[in-house]
Amino acid sequence: MSIVFLNGDFMPVNEAKISPLDRGFLFGDGIYEVIPSYEGKMVGFTGHINRLNNGLKAIGIEYDYSDLQWRELCNQLSEKNGAGSLGLYIHISRGADTKRSHGFPQDVTPTVFAMAFDIPAPREPNLADTKSYALLSTEDLRWKRCHIKSTALLGNVLHFQQGFEADCQETLLFNEKNELTEASSSNIFIIKAGVIATPLQDNQILPGITRRLVIDILTQEGDFTVEERIITMDEVRDADEIWLTSSSKEIMPVTMLDGKLVGDGQIGTVWSKAASLYALKKFDY
Ligand code: PDD
Repeated sequence: MSIVFLNGDFMPVNEAKISPLDRGFLFGDGIYEVIPSYEGKMVGFTGHINRLNNGLKAIGIEYDYSDLQWRELCNQLSEKNGAGSLGLYIHISRGADTKRSHGFPQDVTPTVFAMAFDIPAPREPNLADTKSYALLSTEDLRWKRCHIKSTALLGNVLHFQQGFEADCQETLLFNEKNELTEASSSNIFIIKAGVIATPLQDNQILPGITRRLVIDILTQEGDFTVEERIITMDEVRDADEIWLTSSSKEIMPVTMLDGKLVGDGQIGTVWSKAASLYALKKFDY
């Protein structure tokens, strides 16, 4: 049975209980993080905790917990769940009120919940046995604060489901100007003639930690060029390669978009080089 953390204590998941008046339950009023951890070694810990603190600030939740305390909590959560390949999920809601009311309540204590779930084990990137994704594209109908990692994910859930119902593993999103934003639970990169590009970090996308690590590792440790800029859907459809990035997927190649092959339909050579470098350096950042 998995062991979770709730408001200061570790316990089996079936013993963890929260109030139905918790604002996370009623309003999706909270933020979350997913930190990848492999045999107790976390990837991008500082970036994840900085984003968590930015999220708390953005939605006005005060929660005084140091980086060291978060690290200790994550270490214990990993250990208690077998210390394999885990996504460490941290969720902070505004807390349980005594009534349902939209305004921020006074004097409530935030609810802090953490759990671990299995993610794929790291493997040497190998063109022969790497899976790839098929994507559906659709207009991004979420809100204008996608930079906040909010637990209110209905917009993302509905977009994910659109792709799933079209036999795709993810849904790629574009705004009303036909510009790429991200996917329902991942950031996106496109590659054309060896140049890698990804949308600018603004309120239309989550500032993905894997996205940042990929940009930093590829430009600082390799001779890749990575552009952060506006990308049109025409460019996406004309790309040689498309990748998704997220904490659980790392760099995932995409070989189909809207039923058409991406490039020649094979996992790309730029992906292969980038994924190898990422595998080598990801723990250093
Ligand atoms: N999803 N964009 C969205 C909308 C996401 O939900 C995620 C992550 C990302 C990638 O961010 P990162 O590299 O920091 O994981 C981009 C997480 C893993 C999830 O909801 O499970």
